[in-house]
Amino acid sequence: MNDGRFPERFLWGTATAAHQVEGGNHANDWWAWEQVPGHIKNGDTSDPACEHFERFLADFDLLRSLHQTAHRFSVEWSRIEPAPGEFSSTALAHYREVLQALRDRGMEPLVTLHHFTNPTWIAQAGGWDAPETSEFFARFAARVVDELGTLARFWITINEPTVIAYQGYLRGDWPPGRRNLGAATRVLVNLLRGHWLAYERIKSRHADLQIGLAHHLRVFDPARLFMPQDRAVAAVFNRVFNETMLKSLRLGRLVFPLTRAGRASGPRQSQDFIGLNYYTRELVKFNRRYRAELFGERMLPAGAPRSDLNWELYPEGLYRTLRSLGREQLPIYVTENGIADGRDAWRPEYLLAHVSAMFRAIQAGSPVRGYFHWTCFDNFEWAEGYSAKFGLIACDPVTQERRPRPSARLYAQICRLNALPASVELLPAAPQPVEPAGPVDQK
Ligand code: FCB
Repeated sequence: MNDGRFPERFLWGTATAAHQVEGGNHANDWWAWEQVPGHIKNGDTSDPACEHFERFLADFDLLRSLHQTAHRFSVEWSRIEPAPGEFSSTALAHYREVLQALRDRGMEPLVTLHHFTNPTWIAQAGGWDAPETSEFFARFAARVVDELGTLARFWITINEPTVIAYQGYLRGDWPPGRRNLGAATRVLVNLLRGHWLAYERIKSRHADLQIGLAHHLRVFDPARLFMPQDRAVAAVFNRVFNETMLKSLRLGRLVFPLTRAGRASGPRQSQDFIGLNYYTRELVKFNRRYRAELFGERMLPAGAPRSDLNWELYPEGLYRTLRSLGREQLPIYVTENGIADGRDAWRPEYLLAHVSAMFRAIQAGSPVRGYFHWTCFDNFEWAEGYSAKFGLIACDPVTQERRPRPSARLYAQICRLNALPASVELLPAAPQPVEPAGPVDQK
């Protein structure tokens, strides 16, 4: 570490999700959602995305040539189990080939079992607001791991439970488009239960596999540092958004406010590692009119550098978040971190600053074992369609041409050296909160 290198066998890769890159996923709730005008920017749909379902071999060749040593991807539930209890051997064979292709290239796979999409039959039966979905998910998860578990050591049950609840059930911008706090809370409980059931089943048969979730953690700072109301609201946001799930998982029982939505319990410590998705921070200002948002108006610091989606570039937040995860006493993988930047104007700096923040956290004692940049190819970015370009590699959804951006080369250097390039000075910490400049483009 002292020579500026990351620990040995540190994993360097990129992350994707099936629906965002594969194309041809027509049997899930997102596809149905995309067909309704107004749901997705510019009327985009997830077809053909990156045609990765057909092109995965060449895509992995490209990532390997860029010195990546690992890859995170998700399997698509609706392909594998198109009808309740009917498992498709063709779909399972496909993902076996995907895993084998990674292995053949010496890339460590990290597989996500649920990344936002649900089979149509699950959505029709009430989605994650229906308690039976937890059980259906666990059955699916156990089956996939039984079939493919010998090819991958690292498994993520669910990607970003809080984002699912927030976007789909509170803001209503994603399927099923509801706005109901009670439903959002029930959904979180059912997701937790789904993880617990899946964890128990997988572990009982494959004790050596490493199981975790990918948590979207954001830094919330008070908009006005010395204003007690702002501090209180920021503390509530941190608690609800960043701590509730982790604490429930640590204890094996629901903690407030989840306790309001029912009863559920599971094994204590049901994560073998923490998957961290970190992108940005937000400032929170107390505002009486924002009742539905727990009285917090979310803002950006004036003059702060921003992404195409208006997210603040705040690398110090990765350091702070990694340090705060010390209480979990578990290995950490940064399972997502990246920026929407079609011109690649900020991405090189974003990348260097975040990798150096991670390096500092490791030096300070954080057990970080890998980093997966979001993402390799520009892809279908949910409600933003193809307009938000997160790729190290540009991907044209019409021609399917892949064009590595300068930051792809920079990342390749980092992966190859297992260190920050020597010519790069560590960037100083970002400035502290200043007066808010305006509303955030929220996710
Ligand atoms: C994360 C999601 C991922 C992608 C990035 C930009 O919250 O997990 O699918 O949308 O944000």
